[in-house]
Amino acid sequence: MRSIATSHGIFYNGDCILGASLIPDNSVDLIITDPPYGIEGDRLHRHYNRDESFVTDGYVEIPSEQYESFTMDWVRQAERIIRPGGSVYIVSGYTHLRHILNALHKTSLEEINHIIWRYNFGVFTSKKYVSSHYHILFYSKPGGNRTFNTECRFSLSEKDENGGSLNYQDREDVWIINREYKPGKVKNKNELPTALLSKIIQYSSNEGDLVCDLFLGGFSTAKTAIGLLRRATGFEISQVMFDARAYEMTTLVPGFLLNSAQTPKEPARKRTRKIWNQEETEELRRKYNELNQTGLSQKEITERLQEEFDRGYWSIEKALKKNSIKPRRHKGESGI
Ligand SMILES: C[S@@+](CC[C@H](N)C(=O)[O-])C[C@H]1O[C@@H](n2cnc3c(N)ncnc32)[C@H](O)[C@@H]1O
Repeated sequence: MRSIATSHGIFYNGDCILGASLIPDNSVDLIITDPPYGIEGDRLHRHYNRDESFVTDGYVEIPSEQYESFTMDWVRQAERIIRPGGSVYIVSGYTHLRHILNALHKTSLEEINHIIWRYNFGVFTSKKYVSSHYHILFYSKPGGNRTFNTECRFSLSEKDENGGSLNYQDREDVWIINREYKPGKVKNKNELPTALLSKIIQYSSNEGDLVCDLFLGGFSTAKTAIGLLRRATGFEISQVMFDARAYEMTTLVPGFLLNSAQTPKEPARKRTRKIWNQEETEELRRKYNELNQTGLSQKEITERLQEEFDRGYWSIEKALKKNSIKPRRHKGESGI
């Protein structure tokens, strides 16, 4: 199979089902993939205002009647190459979603989240609602530690202007991320936005990890992975698509996206899970009583204690409960 090797990964020009044997069992940390949609007379790429002359030719579609067996075959390969604890993200429209869900159901992979990605530039329609979402199926292989970097983009204490948790909002399972509008630039017809790929890669992998895309298309997954100092590999069956983008992989400077990626403004909490000692418990008791006199709500008190003791919400709650630290009923009266 034709391939191109770079310092941060090998990319193959061929069928990912036949070629997957080139990738050893349990060797990949993260799979992000966006299979062909199997739609006859494909209109999915016809977004508002796009000049089709800039869309790369050569995209290989799967006939609708073969979609089910094709899906089972590549999903089995994904299951084989992902390491125990590794994560698999599959982007899918709704037309053949059931085949992907059925195939996943037949593997050992476990569902973690079913994410909805809502984008701009929906598919043009005149007599029905405009379609402007994809499904992102997030699965993991059991038997190992799953990487999920909870505070890789927003720390637990970062708030928006209304006091809402930015970390919570970023981890909700509906994502609103715009497609990239690249007027005048050559692109694959369903290129995934860097913002979406960065988010997945930041949460579900660490620097140096191997990220695989079985359907490279415009190589956007590989490019983003390298930009965030991960290694990358994958397959693209179309020679035209492969030749249009593979060379660029040899010219990328690893880590080129690190400065522009979303990162926490405040340091992540230390998740030491240390046991509370006598001294800390006394201090917690003292501080709690002090805050309780100020008229703050219980939620606000817990938040202040989180910051002061550099512990998570549950650690504070548990310590308060375990040490029977209860709110004072009246100002000035002992609350313990
Ligand atoms: C939806 S596109 C991927 C888009 C890509 N995520 C991006 O951001 O550019 C699917 C790609 O899979 C390729 N493809 C189709 N069948 C394939 C196969 N059996 N093995 C590898 N690639 C295949 C198509 O040519 C197409 O480029």
